[in-house]
Amino acid sequence: MGAYADAYERSIAEPDSFWLAATDLIDWTRKPSRAIDDSAAPFYRWFPDGELNTCYNALDRHVESGRAEQTALIYDSPVTGAKSSYTYRELRDEVARFAGLLTELGLTHGDRVVIYMPMVPEAVIAMLGCARIGAVHSVVFGGFAPKELAARIEDAKPKAIVAASCGIEPGRIVEYQPIIAAALSETAHQPDKTVMLQRDQATAEMTERDLDWRDAMARAEPADCVPVAATDPLYILYTSGTTGKPKGVVRDTGGHAVALAWSMANVYDIGAGEVFWTASDVGWVVGHSYIVYAPLLVGATTVLYEGKPVGTPDAGAFWRVIFEHGAKALFTAPTAFRAIKKMDPDATELAKYDLSRFQTLFLAGERLDPETYHWASAKLGVPVIDHWWQTETGWPIAANLRGLEPMTVKPGSPTVPVPGYDVRILDQQGDEAPPGQEGAIALRLPMPPGTLPTLWGDDERYREAYLSRYEGCYLTGDSGYLDEDGYLFVMGRTDDVINVAGHRLSTGSMEAVLAAHPAVAECAVIGVRDELKGQLPRGLVVLKSGVEIAEETLRAELVEAVRRDIGAVAAFRDVSVVDALPKTRSGKILRKTMRGIADGRDEPVPSTIEDAGVLDTLRQVLRKDG
Ligand code: COA
Ligand code: AMP
Repeated sequence: MGAYADAYERSIAEPDSFWLAATDLIDWTRKPSRAIDDSAAPFYRWFPDGELNTCYNALDRHVESGRAEQTALIYDSPVTGAKSSYTYRELRDEVARFAGLLTELGLTHGDRVVIYMPMVPEAVIAMLGCARIGAVHSVVFGGFAPKELAARIEDAKPKAIVAASCGIEPGRIVEYQPIIAAALSETAHQPDKTVMLQRDQATAEMTERDLDWRDAMARAEPADCVPVAATDPLYILYTSGTTGKPKGVVRDTGGHAVALAWSMANVYDIGAGEVFWTASDVGWVVGHSYIVYAPLLVGATTVLYEGKPVGTPDAGAFWRVIFEHGAKALFTAPTAFRAIKKMDPDATELAKYDLSRFQTLFLAGERLDPETYHWASAKLGVPVIDHWWQTETGWPIAANLRGLEPMTVKPGSPTVPVPGYDVRILDQQGDEAPPGQEGAIALRLPMPPGTLPTLWGDDERYREAYLSRYEGCYLTGDSGYLDEDGYLFVMGRTDDVINVAGHRLSTGSMEAVLAAHPAVAECAVIGVRDELKGQLPRGLVVLKSGVEIAEETLRAELVEAVRRDIGAVAAFRDVSVVDALPKTRSGKILRKTMRGIADGRDEPVPSTIEDAGVLDTLRQVLRKDG
C-alpha cells in the first residue's frame, strides 16, 4: 500500500490514534491524552484535555530551539516601496510587546479583537499578539464596506479594534478611519479602544478612543504566552453564506495547530528553514492559515506581499518575489495567474529571473480552469497543484499531497481526499453516487482537527446550514464527482455563494441591497463566468409597476449601492431590467436555470416553471454580450 492510501485508511478507520500521533508536531503545556470528543455529537471537539499556546508554537519554541536568527517573516510591498524582514527573535519580541499592550488595555483570555488592516507586518503581529494572551481575533478584509465591518463588530463584540490608517489599491488610497467610524455609527456594540497604525500614505484623525500603535508599543511591557485549552477559540473569521448575515466560522486552538503543522509537511512539503509564499490577504482564510499560522508553526519563512500580481510594476512581480526571497513554493488563486497571463501571455518577464529554487505552485480558492493550469505548467516548468478547501475547514479537503506521496495531476481535479476527510458524493435522496456521477459533496462526520467546531454564538445556525441536509454529514455547498481512480472533481457551488477573483461573496446579500431600492419590485443576482475573475455577479431586476426611471440611472444607483453596502470587492457592475424573473409555480426563483443561460449552457426547462416564455427574454438579455 502506498503512503497516501495507508495514511488515508488509518485516518478514517482510527482517527483517534492517527491524530494523537500528529500531536507530536506541537509543543503542549499539557499533552492531550485523547483526540476526539464526540460526547456532544454532531458537535465534535479535538484534544479535549490538551493545553497549549499557538503563539508559543509559532514563535517562542523556534527561538528557544536555535532558530532565533532565522528570518521568520519577509515583508515585500511594491505599492509602498518598502521591504523588511523579521527574525524569529524580532518577531517574538514585537508580538510579546503587542500582547503586553493588549493586556494593559484590559484584554484577557476569551476577549475578542477585530483586526482591520492591510497586508502589513503589524497585522501578523496583532494576530499573534491576540493568540499569545488567549484573546480571539477576527480579521476583516480591507475591501469590505462599513456595513460589512459593522455586521462583524456587532456579532463578535470586540473589546478593541486594531487598525491601520489606510490600505493601498492601484491608483487610490483607501482610508480606514472613516470606514471604522461609519461602521461604529451603526453598531450598538462599541469597543473600548482602537489601536491605530499610522502609515505614511494617510494619517488617521485620532479620536478619544484611539491609541497610536507606535506610542503605545514604545510604552508596552512584553507579555508571556498564556496556555489555553485546545478547544478554546483562536479566531473567528466571517465568511459569506446564503443570507446577508455573514457566518462567524470559529477556529479552535489545538486542532488547528496540529492540522496546519501536519499539512505543511504532508500537503505542501515545507519544513523548517524553507521559504513559503502565499499571495493572498490576511483577511481571508488562505491568509490566516498559510501566510501566518502554518509557515510559522513549522519554523519556515513566510512572505507577506502587499501588492497585486500585475502592474506592480509589471507582469513580472510574482517572479521577482519568488526569485528575490528564494521561495520554494507559491500558493495563490488561479485568478492571479489569469491576470499575469492576460498581461504577458508569453511570460516574457519570466526570463529575467532565475527560479531554479522554485519547486511547486499551489492554487486554490476557486476553480482552476484547464487553460490556466496548462499555461502555468508550461511557463513555470514545475508541478501546478490544484487543491480544494474552504473557510470552514481551514485547510485542504482534497489535494495532491506533495510531502506524503506525490500523485499524477489530472487537470480539472484537485486530486484526492486528504487524510481525515471522508468525502462522499450524495444524490438528492442521500444515496452515494457511483463514480463519474455528480452530486453534493458532503464530508462524513467527524471532520478532522482544524475544521470549524461551530459558528460563533450560533450552534443552531451551524447545525441548520451544514448538518441538517444529510444525517451524519457536513454539507460543503459544492457539487462534484469522484472518478474511478478516486480523484475528486469540484464543479461549483450549489448555493448562493459565488467566487469573484478568489473572493467569496454572497449573491443573497447583493440581492438584499438591490431589493432595498425604491424602484425595485424583485430581483436576482447570479454568478456568471468571467475570463479574468472566474465569476462576476450579474443583477436582474423587475421594476415596481408605475415606476419610471431611466435604466442607466437605475443601474448607476444599484452599482453604487452594492459598492457602498458590501464593498468594491464585490465587483458588481452589471445589472439589467427585465419584465419578469423565471419562477416555479410556487414562486421560487429559478437561479440555476438563469446561471445556465448566462453561461451558454442549454439547461433543461424545469417542469415546475410557471411561465417558460420568460426564459426567451432572459436569453436575449443574458447573452446580449456573448
Ligand atoms: N481594500 C480595498 N479595496 C480593495 C481591496 C482591499 N484590500 N482589494 C480589492 N479591492 C478593490 C479593488 O481596488 C477594486 O476596486 P475598483 O472597483 O475601484 O477597481 C475592487 O475591489 C475589485 O478588486 P479585485 O477583485 O481584486 O480586482 P482587481 O482588478 O483590483 O485585481 C486581480 C484583479 C485578479 C489581480 C486580483 O483580484 C487578485 O490578485 N486576486 C487574487 C485573489 C486572492 O488573493 N484571493 C484569496 C484566496 S487565495
Ligand atoms: P473560501 O471559503 O473563500 O475559501 O471559498 C471556498 C469555496 O471556494 C469552495 O466552497 C469552492 O466553491 C471554491 N473553491 C475553493 N478552492 C477550489 C478549487 N480548488 N476548485 C474549485 N473550487 C474551489
